[in-house]
Amino acid sequence: MTDARKALGQVVFVGAGPGSIDHLTMGACRALTQAEVVIHDRLVGPEILELIPPSATRIEAGKEGFGPSTPQSAINGMIVGHAGAGKRVVRLKSGDSGIFGRLDEEIEALDEAGIPWRIVPGLTTAAAAAATIGQSLTKRGRNAALRIVTGHDMAGFAEQDWRGLARAGEVAAIYMGKKSARFIQGRLMMHGASPETPVTVVENASRADERIVAATLVTLADAVAGLTGPAIVLYGLAPRRAAAALPLLKEATA
Ligand SMILES: C[S@@+](CC[C@H](N)C(=O)[O-])C[C@H]1O[C@@H](n2cnc3c(N)ncnc32)[C@H](O)[C@@H]1O
Repeated sequence: MTDARKALGQVVFVGAGPGSIDHLTMGACRALTQAEVVIHDRLVGPEILELIPPSATRIEAGKEGFGPSTPQSAINGMIVGHAGAGKRVVRLKSGDSGIFGRLDEEIEALDEAGIPWRIVPGLTTAAAAAATIGQSLTKRGRNAALRIVTGHDMAGFAEQDWRGLARAGEVAAIYMGKKSARFIQGRLMMHGASPETPVTVVENASRADERIVAATLVTLADAVAGLTGPAIVLYGLAPRRAAAALPLLKEATA
C-alpha cells in the first residue's frame, strides 16, 4: 500500500434496518462503534444513533420524499471530504443501503476520489413489515416473485409494470407510496386489479409506534391518509389473523 493510500480514510456503507435496534446486525454495530464520522439519514432509529461513539462527528444528511433534503452532491462531498481527510466514515442509511438508498451515486463519488469502501447490508423494511403482519413475501402457489417498487422517483409518481402487478396473486413491497397511493390505486384498477386485493400499510415498522392498517386496493388512499411516519405498502398481503397476537408474544419473550 502506498503512503498516499494509507493517508486516505475509508467508508463503510451501513444498513441500519427499519428502526429497531433488534434489527441491527453485529457487523453494523461493530462498524458504528469504530466510526470517527457518521453521516446518517433522517430515518435511522434513535436507539441506533445512540451507539455512535461520543467522540465521533455525527452529521444528519436528511432526505425526505418531496420535502426538505440535503442535495445528493452535498452528501457526496461530505463523505469524500471526511474520508479524504483520513477518517473512518460510516454512511448510515435506513433499511438496506442498496434499496432506494442512492448508494450508487455515493460509491461513484468515492471511486472517482480513489477512496476505499465496503457495504454492510441491513434488513430492508419489507422484511420487517412482512414479519410484523405474520406473512411471507413469497409463497408457493401464490407468488414466485416479489416486486420491490417505489411510489415516486426523480420524475414524480413512478410508472411501474401495472399490468403485471394487477394479476391475481402478485405481491409488491411499495416504498415511498404514501403520497402516490391514489395514483397507484388508480393505475392498478385501470389495469384490471380487483378492488378487493388485500393491501396492508405498515407505518413505523419495527418501532415502538408501529401501526398496521389493513385495507384493500379500493381503500388504499384512505388507509394512508393521516399517516405521518414512514410507511410501506404491502400490496397483495393481508395481515395473518394470528398477527393480532404478536404484540403479546413480543412482550412475553422480551
Ligand atoms: C428512501 S427509502 C429507504 C428504504 C430503505 N433503504 C430500506 O431498505 O428499507 C424510504 C422509505 O422506506 C420506507 N421505510 C423506511 N423505514 C420505514 C419504517 N420503519 N416503517 C415503514 N416504512 C419505512 C418508507 O416507505 C420510506 O418512505
